Amino acid sequence: MGYNVAIDGPAGAGKSTIAKLVAKEKGYIYVDTGAMYRGLAIHFLDQGIKAEETDKIIEACKEAQVTIKYEGGMQQVYLNGNNITSRLRDEEVGNMASKSSPIPQVREKLLELQQSLAREQDVIMDGRDIGTCILPDADVKVYLTASVETRAKRRFDELMEKGITCDLEEIAKDIAERDERDMTRKTAPLKQAEDATLIDSSHMTIEEVVAAITALCR
Ligand code: DC
Repeated sequence: MGYNVAIDGPAGAGKSTIAKLVAKEKGYIYVDTGAMYRGLAIHFLDQGIKAEETDKIIEACKEAQVTIKYEGGMQQVYLNGNNITSRLRDEEVGNMASKSSPIPQVREKLLELQQSLAREQDVIMDGRDIGTCILPDADVKVYLTASVETRAKRRFDELMEKGITCDLEEIAKDIAERDERDMTRKTAPLKQAEDATLIDSSHMTIEEVVAAITALCR
């Protein structure tokens, strides 16, 4: 069994940024489970399936094979043998992932992949249900959050830096809606595991959050 660190929290809390830095410092493998949901979402989109077509999504799951490889320490996601990593962050892919991830058959499809990665090596895995469902016996569990305002401002700054004009209030509204969807779904809703350490990064720097998490690890 590998040493397992689980990081859950809402969209935009900085999970992936923080997890990558902790992974580097501690020599763990960073496993981005959101990327796996996004990988399946690409499969559904490429089949021309719409988010409301639950039956078609369940059927399409059967022939989808998502695999993960690490190249130069970076996670690469393959869908039926094709590297689809460059498409993962597309807006329509994120939306499809958010809408298809509540379907139990979609979650079932990725459960074994996530658990087997954690069995075989030391990992820091981020997502929504890692501490509650995927790795209930993780050595360290963190629930990383921040206020909606802080998360919206971070996303706003990130987009502005890329030269993309956007509206702060609109971003805050999107984040609040996604929180609601992730937290109220029936299957594996986002919530803090009873034995998770809560870290609210609203008034913390990245370095402070990384230090707080590494202090919890062996
Ligand atoms: O973290 P992310 O934005 O890449 O995740 C994309 C979507 O996948 C997110 O809206 C919710 C879903 N997801 C999930 O349901 N469970 C996880 N462990 C990770 C992501």
